[in-house]
This record gives sequence, structure tokens and C-alpha cells, in this order.
Amino acid sequence: MTKIDFKNIPVGKLNSKQAESELKRLSSLILIHNKNYYQDNYPKISDREYDLLWKRNVSIEKKFPELIRKDSPSLRIGGDLNESFKKVKHIDPMLSLSNIFDESGLNDFYTQMRKLLELEEEEVIEIVAEPKIDGISASLRYLNGDLSLGSTRGNGFEGEDITNNLKVVNGVPKKLKEKGLPPILEIRGEVYMEHRDFTKLNEFQKKMGKPLYANPRNSAAGSLRQLDSNVTAERNLHFFAYTWGSSSNYFKGTQWQSRKQLKELGFIINEPSRLCKNSKEVLNYYEEILDMRSSFNFDIDGVVYKLNNIDWQNIIGSRSRSPRWAVAHKLPAEKAQTVINSIDVQVGRTGSLTPVARLDPINVGGVFITNATLHNGYEIQKKDIREGDTVIVQRAGDVIPQVLEVVISKRKEDSKKYKFPKICPECGSSTLSEKLENGENEKTIRCTGGLKCPSQIVERIKHFVSQSAL
Ligand code: IVH
Repeated sequence: MTKIDFKNIPVGKLNSKQAESELKRLSSLILIHNKNYYQDNYPKISDREYDLLWKRNVSIEKKFPELIRKDSPSLRIGGDLNESFKKVKHIDPMLSLSNIFDESGLNDFYTQMRKLLELEEEEVIEIVAEPKIDGISASLRYLNGDLSLGSTRGNGFEGEDITNNLKVVNGVPKKLKEKGLPPILEIRGEVYMEHRDFTKLNEFQKKMGKPLYANPRNSAAGSLRQLDSNVTAERNLHFFAYTWGSSSNYFKGTQWQSRKQLKELGFIINEPSRLCKNSKEVLNYYEEILDMRSSFNFDIDGVVYKLNNIDWQNIIGSRSRSPRWAVAHKLPAEKAQTVINSIDVQVGRTGSLTPVARLDPINVGGVFITNATLHNGYEIQKKDIREGDTVIVQRAGDVIPQVLEVVISKRKEDSKKYKFPKICPECGSSTLSEKLENGENEKTIRCTGGLKCPSQIVERIKHFVSQSAL
């Protein structure tokens, strides 16, 4: 019987069985290429071919989320577990949170808990509401009260040992205060960077000619994974504690009480928090946080609702990746209005031409932004973005600031449609967009100059000597 080669089947046409074997193939293939590239410094495929493998893996996972493998490359922080840090297995997996976006999501959350706990309609379900910090989660293992291991979340089952770096983060006690602690106590929380430190760091990066961090979350992640913990210390990171892993029932009773216990142990907990008796109080809390969001000196991307009764939490337990007793209510991305002074086109390592809007500096939720990505020429054309336009820009969690839309009423009369360069602005070579598997043209336009293009040379060297590559 001839073996079917699934790798040529477009993602849209894969059935579940084929998708499963494709994800298996891609995961091990990407792993091999990661090793060739990062450890052996000897890539056997081009960056372009690597990108295609990566994108195929991600789009299959999007279509078949139930088939995502535990060893999927997309589940790794920063795309890869850095071989410079020792890997550590979490005693209890580090879960994530499922998201809700509105009142109906909140009602579903209550309904599901009521059903699983077999509670009558009149029974009060108390909820602890607290801000959801947009940082990097970390787990701290204390042996008889002494910090013995600090790790990243990694893929949830296995993270990286970054003990030395976590020791220099503000709010991480090296010794716990209370007596009568269980032999092993694991405290989990979020490491984050305050806005002013993020701005300072980017000013420094710019002065040194180094790439800028897109947002405080990325800079916290980069600062945590430094090989030299002196560099981490300089970055002035902070830690909020919000839950526990292995704890031999040290935390019992209520979530509200456990916050107090965390504080007594010497941790900093995130405020403002509230104990809510019903969904109306929960939604009022959400609205209040939404209003005061820009006054926080760190990024938040939602609020978290947690069932207060810990016995009930244990009864309803968790799904494979998130607890049933907690949920994240996402906040909308932060927006502001500013003017595009000019549009520059940057040439990347693989020759991709990326247009960038140079903005009148604007404060979006505490962070000053001066640039926004315009993604590609197609995006500029679709939104009819022009130099001199007043635009709405958005800054959302993980992504580089984006231009959402043009404020047409503020467009100048003499404004001209933007023309995307037909030749590479750096080396004058012709440009092309490649054909995709589905027969359409790729939206990214590329310079064909290869190593004739000064920008591609510089970007490749920068990549080659970057921490992740070396
Ligand atoms: S509780 C069982 N509380 O959000 C999971 N998480 O998107 C317990 N996060 O992985 C998480 N602020 O890294 C919790 N107040 C908070 C949080 C919070 C931020 C992070 C955490 C989690 C991610 C999920």
C-alpha cells in the first residue's frame, strides 16, 4: 500500500487523523531544526523553509486545538526552551486560564460551577476578583521555608531553572516568614516590569543600537532569561504572588484568606482585589478596573475571577490546561489617537519588507510609543493609511503597537495615497511575493537581493550573534 504524504495537503483539507500525524511530524522536525540552528549553529534548511514549517504547525493547531501536543513547539516560551537553563519538571502542572469577554461568558462560568457543585439557585457563590497582570508566570519552590528552586512555566509541565534570576526579583523572599510550613511549598505568581523601567530600558537599548522591546511583558521575559543574573537585577523586575502549586494543604478555607496567608509569608499580592457575592458585584469590579487601568504603573490585560471556597475548587478541579474554578475576563486593548509623521520600510533577515509608521510620540496606557507596525503593503492599502494621517493606535498584550484605523475626518486635503516601494529601499533589488500552498500570493513582499542587500546582511549577523542563536 502506498503511504500518503500528508505534508502536501493544504491545512484546510486535512481531516483529524491526518492533522494528528502532521502535528507529530512537524513537532519532531522543528525540534531537529532547532537543535541544528541553536545548538550546532549549522542550519540545514533556510529560514524561509523553517518559517513555513512553523506556520503550518500553528495553523493546524488553530484548526484542531484538541490535537495540540504536549511537546508542540508553539507551547514553548519564546519558541524554545533555552539549552543554557536546566529543565525542571513541575510537581503540579502550571495551568493557564480560560478567557471570557463579556457578561454572557461570566454567566456561563457561574452556571457551570453551580452544575458541577450541584448547588441550588439561591446558594451564594463567592468570587475573588483581582487584576490580571500581563507578565511572565514563575513558580518558586521553598524547602522548609528556603527558596530552593525558581522556574519558568515552560510548557506547563516542564520549565527552566531560573532560580538565580528570580532571587534578584523584587518581592521574591529567599526565606519565608511563617513558622509551621510544610516541607515543600510552591508559590506561583507573575513577574513583571513597571512602565518607567520599560521606558528606561528601551532608551538604553536604543542608545546601544540594540532592538527595542515591544512591550513590558516581552522585556520582563527577556530580562528573566538572562544568563547573567546581574543583568536581571539591573532590570528591576517585580513579583506578585497569586496562587500555589504543591502545598500539602497549607492553603485551605478560602481564596480570600489565602491572599492574607501569602502576604504573611512575605509576598506582595496584587491589588485592588474584591470579594464579590454575585455577578453584579463582579461586573462592577470589572468596570472600575477598566476605568482605573491607565493609573496602574504596570500592564494588566484582564481581571481574574476565582471561586472563593477552596474545597469547592478542589471538587470541580481542572481541565487539561485550565482550572474550572477560575477564569480571566479580558480587557479590551488600549487605544489612543496620534499622527503618522512618516512610513519607513524595514528589510528583515529573510528579506521581508515591513512598513513601520513613525508616530508623534503618544502615551498608550502608561507606555510611550513612537512606532507602530503596518504589517505589509496589503494592510496599508486595505486601510488606506497615508503619511500625515491621524490614526487610532492600539497596544495589546503580546503584540507590537498597531495602527487600527485612520480618522478620515482629520485627513489633510493634500494627502496622497501611499505607494509601497517596488524595489528594495536598501539595495535596489527587485521584490517579489511568493506563492503559497493555497495558490494565493503571500502578503509579505521580499527583497531578492540576498547577501547583496546590506540590511539583510546586518540583520543576519545580528541574528547570528543574538543570545537565542548563539
Ligand atoms: S491565577 C491555575 N491570577 O495569567 C492558574 N493568574 O492567562 C492560576 N496571571 O498563567 C492562575 N495575573 O500567568 C492568576 N491574578 C492572577 C493572574 C494570573 C496574571 C497569569 C498567569 C496565568 C495567565 C493565564
